[in-house]
Amino acid sequence: MTVTIRFATTAEVRPLRLEVLRADTTNKTVDFEGDDDATTRHLVAVNAHGEIVGVSTWLERDLDQQPHLRGLQLRGMATASSVQNQGIGALILAAGVDYALSLDADLIWANARDQALNFYNRNGFVTTGEGFIESVTRLPHHRVIKSLR
Ligand SMILES: CC(C)(COP(=O)(O)OP(=O)(O)OC[C@H]1O[C@@H](n2cnc3c(N)ncnc32)[C@H](O)[C@@H]1OP(=O)(O)O)[C@@H](O)C(=O)NCCC(=O)NCCS
Repeated sequence: MTVTIRFATTAEVRPLRLEVLRADTTNKTVDFEGDDDATTRHLVAVNAHGEIVGVSTWLERDLDQQPHLRGLQLRGMATASSVQNQGIGALILAAGVDYALSLDADLIWANARDQALNFYNRNGFVTTGEGFIESVTRLPHHRVIKSLR
């Protein structure tokens, strides 16, 4: 499938967050702290019909453990279930890396669902630290970090 990647509004990313990231959770919250900050960007994949089929959110937020490095946090990464495993997620991550480099960021980090760790690892993120249960989804997660240096 051919998609284009572009910046989007918070309102545009919330429907796919709900559909993909809250499908099996009782908590249906799709608002993230910082969503509407002036420095926050949402990157989406759009198909030939103009439909948003992939979403992601990039927040200027340093890692607690490495406050001397400029960090971007990736949140709300999701591809519509009907078009997963076609490379759309990788395209969004590549666009996010370009965006991070344009800010001269040192690293990108995310709290990744364990079920998505292969995806992040294949795209250059390193799994770090102990696993934990994320409070909204109640799913096991690990912190992943991609160094840009
Ligand atoms: C995780 C997620 C965002 C990945 O998005 P995606 O668009 O499916 O990502 P890609 O297609 O780039 O990569 C996914 C897999 O498809 C494979 N793939 C990519 N292009 C492919 C192709 N043309 N043919 C076959 N397989 C392909 C990749 O190798 C990758 O495998 P891996 O997960 O074992 O590394 C998506 O699966 C998703 O939304 N999952 C549910 C929500 C979720 O877990 N989000 C992450 C929260 S931290």
